[in-house]
Amino acid sequence: MKAVILSAGVGSRFRSEKNKVLHTILGKPMIWYVLQAVKNSSAENIAIVVGHMAQEVKKAIESEAVSFYYQSNPKGGTADALIASADMWRSYDGYLLVINADTPLIKSQTLKNMERFIHMVKEYENVTLSAVVLTGFLPDPTGYGRVIKDSEGNVIKITEEKEASFEEKKVNEVNGGVYIFYAPHLIECIFHIKPSEKTGELYLTDVFKIMYQRGYKTRTFMAEDASEIMGVNTRWDLAIAENVVRLRILQYWAEKGNTLHQPESIWIDPDVVLEGDVEIYSDVTLSGKTKIGRGCVIGRGCVVINSTLGSGVVLEPYSIIKDSRIMDDARIGPFAHLRNECVIGEKSEIGNFVEVKKSAIGKDVKAKHLAYIGDAHIGDGTNIGAGVVFANFDGKKKYEAHVGSGAFIGSNSLLVAPLKIGDFSYIAGGSVVTKDVPDGDLAIARPQLRLLKGKGREKLK
Ligand code: UD1
Ligand code: MG
Repeated sequence: MKAVILSAGVGSRFRSEKNKVLHTILGKPMIWYVLQAVKNSSAENIAIVVGHMAQEVKKAIESEAVSFYYQSNPKGGTADALIASADMWRSYDGYLLVINADTPLIKSQTLKNMERFIHMVKEYENVTLSAVVLTGFLPDPTGYGRVIKDSEGNVIKITEEKEASFEEKKVNEVNGGVYIFYAPHLIECIFHIKPSEKTGELYLTDVFKIMYQRGYKTRTFMAEDASEIMGVNTRWDLAIAENVVRLRILQYWAEKGNTLHQPESIWIDPDVVLEGDVEIYSDVTLSGKTKIGRGCVIGRGCVVINSTLGSGVVLEPYSIIKDSRIMDDARIGPFAHLRNECVIGEKSEIGNFVEVKKSAIGKDVKAKHLAYIGDAHIGDGTNIGAGVVFANFDGKKKYEAHVGSGAFIGSNSLLVAPLKIGDFSYIAGGSVVTKDVPDGDLAIARPQLRLLKGKGREKLK
């Protein structure tokens, strides 16, 4: 089977500068979901018809192995779009999957089932189908093409909302915008489609009327889950579709053995992996290429982006982790912020209001309160006191600081990089450190404390 995805339309109901198929659902463009479903079906040759904002659409999926065809008039209609790809299938003696790019909820299993259905009709009824269209019964079919069938189940025609009569509008079986055509019959019929009198567009759906007139057999195939046929035409449709995708992902991870508290508030992107027995509290977002190790606990309000957590990591509430790696049994937060390729060693604790940027932190390190650690390397077992700041920037360049193992950096110290602080050294609280400190030394840099007799406050009367 070959496949064509139609994504050239203007999508005016979206009211967007961007092509609507580039609007994202959990961080991926809508068309990505359609492409994944098609890739996981039996289609071995996939083309995408682009037109409106063609370059942007191509760029969004350039890494995928697909070919592109160009529809020069993106207002030409869905048949005009499919005709634009005719070079791919005009001499092909096989079946062609055609799918609208605005149906992100379609499942690959349904595409496989549609194809299987064609083979079964052939085998059991000895009927060669010219087309199968995916349909669903909707309580409110408004906006969709209505499918009109004869008593045998052949599609007589599909009537678009704008053209439908009062009686046709009452039909609840709607076109899901997913079709499998027998290519030789499609090429024979598609050029007979006439422009709509209302819109001037060539409707692909009109090919069913032509096939019926020629005595070709067609069938509908009902989606198992009615949500699958949803066409995303407006921003509100997008919001609803995103919610469906989100819940599907959450259900998948729950069934794999992970606990989700208040799932209605949890967002997990498609590329995220949970290794099992993970416990996630409300308002958590896991996005990008994130991997959460076995037994991790992700507290309320945490955001994890493109990061890897080992096993048994605890993120206390409201911590933000970006592009970083956290080793087993580390404890982060509440209100911690890790970013730009941090590595946090096993069993380390990064606590309240600590920001760590582009730093490699060893095992059993403690930085539990109000610190800024930037461009630093910190050895195992070192303690970073409250309020410690790594001054890594002189206004022009960034510098690195190296702190050895087993060191103790007293509260409110300022470590001015570039700087080397040795193993087992001790920095007295409040010191401004501008020189390297050798292993095992104590550094103290602060004004002497003076006591001025009787200069305190006046006693209260
Ligand atoms: C279409 C169907 C309708 C069906 C619905 C399902 C037609 C005429 N109507 O309506 O029966 O119920 O999908 O969601 O097919 N496109 C192009 N070039 C164009 C026009 C559209 O490539 O000139 C692409 C769009 O980018 C989009 C897809 O085709 O991905 C469908 O177009 P859209 O305008 O959303 O069609 P609907 O009105 O939803
Ligand atoms: Mg649509």
